[in-house]
Amino acid sequence: MAKIINGKEMAAQIRAEAALEAAQFARRYGRAPGLAVIIVGSDPASQIYVRNKHKACAACGISSQVIELPGDTGEKELLARVAALNEDAQTDGILVQLPLPEGIDKRKVISAVAPAKDVDVFHSLNVGMLTSGDYTLAPCTPSGVLEMLRRTGIVMEGRKCVMVGRSNLVGKPLALLMLEQNCTLTVCHSKTVDLKKECRQADILISAVGKPRLITGDMVKKGAVVIDIGINRLEDGSLCGDVDFEAAKKKASYITPVPGGVGPMTVAMLMKNTVRAAFAAMEKKEK
Ligand code: GUN
Repeated sequence: MAKIINGKEMAAQIRAEAALEAAQFARRYGRAPGLAVIIVGSDPASQIYVRNKHKACAACGISSQVIELPGDTGEKELLARVAALNEDAQTDGILVQLPLPEGIDKRKVISAVAPAKDVDVFHSLNVGMLTSGDYTLAPCTPSGVLEMLRRTGIVMEGRKCVMVGRSNLVGKPLALLMLEQNCTLTVCHSKTVDLKKECRQADILISAVGKPRLITGDMVKKGAVVIDIGINRLEDGSLCGDVDFEAAKKKASYITPVPGGVGPMTVAMLMKNTVRAAFAAMEKKEK
């Protein structure tokens, strides 16, 4: 029977570390690190995510500014808001909550965020840095997964990692991070011919697709580490991941639950990234 990796507990620990670092920053520079979050429209899930980010900032001693814009905000107005935050000396991190309403070019908005303040690590310059291994910040959900593996003491070097999902937000950057850990990496996606066969090879099996019960018990090798990044809402309103948790738990050595697994780690890593961006900005100024 697998041991459960408790993301809720681990995220609390990381937030506590971020709070200590934020306090150190405040002592050194006479102000708190600052995060600005822009949300356009009233997508209910996005509103909950943004509220969680705001609460986490307050608990960590990070100053947080939430800019709520109506759903009919134009691209020009949004770009102007981003440009103002780029210039604001109190703002160390900028996050534009996705998805954006139709009619706004997401790529344009992401490219408008100053790379040094891009705590999501979505800007193509930062994605390029991540690819070359020369980076200060890694995207929040992928680095949250890596942190979970590290803190659980999972050996990555030389082990087979199968990443299911290749999104720009999670699958691709996490695949890069696992490669950097010297895993032997396979990336699977909707066109993979025999997903079961690929998954059964995995010492570390990670799914980030958004399909309930895509990963069944017979796809898990005995003793594998299973990381579930999917968050799916079922018809009865309950949340579940991509993995058939009960079946996979019987085969795996470690497994993350949904909820209470990877989810809380994303916000915790955002706190870390904000403090890191703040230190990097001030240290650059001092040079
Ligand atoms: N929407 C869902 N996840 C994310 C995220 O990590 N960052 C942003 N900006 N929007 C999101």
